Amino acid sequence: MRAAVIDRYGPPEVVRVAEVPTPEPGPREVRVRVDASSVTVADARIRAARFPAGLGLFARLAFGVRAPRRAILGSTFAGVVDAAGPDVVRFQPGDRVCGMAGSRMGTHAELAVVAESATVPLPADVSAPDAAGMLFGGTTALFFLRDQARVRAGESVLVVGASGAVGTNAVQLARHLGARVTGVTRAANTDLVRGLGAERVIDYEQSPLSALADRFDVVIDTVGILHPSDRRRLLTEGGRLALVAGSLRDLLGVRGQVVGGAAPERTADVTELLALVAGGDLVCVTDRTVTLDDIVDAHRRVDSGRKVGNIVLTPAARSGGDA
Ligand SMILES: NC(=O)c1ccc[n+]([C@@H]2O[C@H](COP(=O)([O-])OP(=O)(O)OC[C@H]3O[C@@H](n4cnc5c(N)ncnc54)[C@H](OP(=O)(O)O)[C@@H]3O)[C@@H](O)[C@H]2O)c1
Repeated sequence: MRAAVIDRYGPPEVVRVAEVPTPEPGPREVRVRVDASSVTVADARIRAARFPAGLGLFARLAFGVRAPRRAILGSTFAGVVDAAGPDVVRFQPGDRVCGMAGSRMGTHAELAVVAESATVPLPADVSAPDAAGMLFGGTTALFFLRDQARVRAGESVLVVGASGAVGTNAVQLARHLGARVTGVTRAANTDLVRGLGAERVIDYEQSPLSALADRFDVVIDTVGILHPSDRRRLLTEGGRLALVAGSLRDLLGVRGQVVGGAAPERTADVTELLALVAGGDLVCVTDRTVTLDDIVDAHRRVDSGRKVGNIVLTPAARSGGDA
């Protein structure tokens, strides 16, 4: 099968497409034909060994000290079960499924083996690209807004980085939770963010957050650009600050009003997000859809820091047509 492979840490060009052995599912694992995955900031961080300040040592221990432990990146997947390993009880070949592969990764490939426990049925009315595209930012935004910051109906929420993978989901999910949303983005993305449900959009190039006089019940920083002196100043009394993109120093400051950490990959959240997509309450904002042949460009686009929403990868398709 074809896969996007990395042998060493480095720039986007270290990713190459290669023929690799087809993985065999073990007990309680399924092999999935990956109709869609996504190329995310997490993939690019691992590829480049570019981790948040202070977390490099921990990350290298997890992902590989000298070279990446996982040759095939990719976390989200949506597709069709191709084979089921021993003791799989919930799925059989032909089932439409999706999920997040966890630390084993491997979904930037035509076929991926994933745990049955990480896999959920893909509803008939949700496309594979929408599911795989939305899951990385969706699970993160849901965790931070609903579970960590505990957004309540009627509250005001400021989403910093409203046009990214996490941000586009955060705007929609905050709105779904009943909040009044203000999004922070560049002028080029203003209409998009407003269309996702923000009642107000701040162009940070025209109006720096350091000059913003407003207060919010919840501030979610998906970029890591809020200056420490602005963080609490932007909060109402009892307000909560969610640090999605934080350094080790930020993590050490997580307590009380300040929440942070790593979003878990929970199938219950995946199922909930799929239901929102099926019901039209959540859309996957797609920057571009690429095949394996475009994987280097996809990594370049992620590295630009300018992608809008999600990059969907369709590993089972070939450039110029289906496989
Ligand atoms: N804690 C966790 O569990 C967790 C989970 C997922 C992701 N993350 C982290 O969250 C961060 C965002 O991930 P992502 O996937 O959403 O990234 P992304 O899709 O690349 O989005 C980043 C966004 O940041 C915006 N941006 C860049 N500079 C900005 C600035 N100065 N002010 C305001 N916005 C700015 C960009 O929009 P403009 O073009 O408008 O500037 C872009 O849309 C990453 O650092 C990632 O590692 C953490």
